[in-house]
Amino acid sequence: MDDGWDRYADGWDDHEGARAYARAAFASLESVLDGTGIVLGGAQVVDFGCGTGLLTERLVDAGSEVVAVDTSPAMLAVLEAKIDRHGWTTVTTTAELADSPSGNDLIVCSSVCSFLDDYPGTAGQLTALLRPGGVFIQWDWERSEDDHGLSRSEVTDALRSAGLERVEVETAFEVEAEGQTMRPLVGHGRRPVEPVGRRLS
Ligand SMILES: C[S@@+](CC[C@H](N)C(=O)[O-])C[C@H]1O[C@@H](n2cnc3c(N)ncnc32)[C@H](O)[C@@H]1O
Repeated sequence: MDDGWDRYADGWDDHEGARAYARAAFASLESVLDGTGIVLGGAQVVDFGCGTGLLTERLVDAGSEVVAVDTSPAMLAVLEAKIDRHGWTTVTTTAELADSPSGNDLIVCSSVCSFLDDYPGTAGQLTALLRPGGVFIQWDWERSEDDHGLSRSEVTDALRSAGLERVEVETAFEVEAEGQTMRPLVGHGRRPVEPVGRRLS
């Protein structure tokens, strides 16, 4: 299924803005994971809305096993060409979220959640793919006057409704690229280690 993203696939990686965003998102991922006990080396990760794999390639370099999910065949084709070129054996691609394995250490969603028809519902589906203690993290533009993006409260509400705990939403990074300042949000949370209903306190 192509939701209009196919036409951006060729040349996506040539945009300094897209590359700078992925670089900065990856740096903020490392700081979010600090202290969670999750290390990228050997982690099982779903990169949802992976596009051409600008974040996927960093995860692969860090030693993660990645399932890269995207509904755009053309975006996935660019990533698949990279997989062939580099001979990566630790990343697979799919257009179907339902093909993703469960029990993941980490779900990453870089600049995709604000484009979803049902963002809260998808956040719930993605959370169900985490192991207890696994981390969900998303980066999105903060909602602007033209109504593009997500507000801090929308992200907080969606992640809490998805069943995540330790939910935090903050400015992810501030980076200049192609004459613009990029200042997206990062939202993250952890799948509870114990079933919520069995907590004693
Ligand atoms: C702005 S691009 C971001 C791509 C990549 N994460 C990056 O940062 O370079 C948004 C991506 O989300 C994908 N996408 C949109 N709706 C989706 C859905 N329902 N399921 C999976 N991917 C989706 C698009 O095909 C597109 O590749």
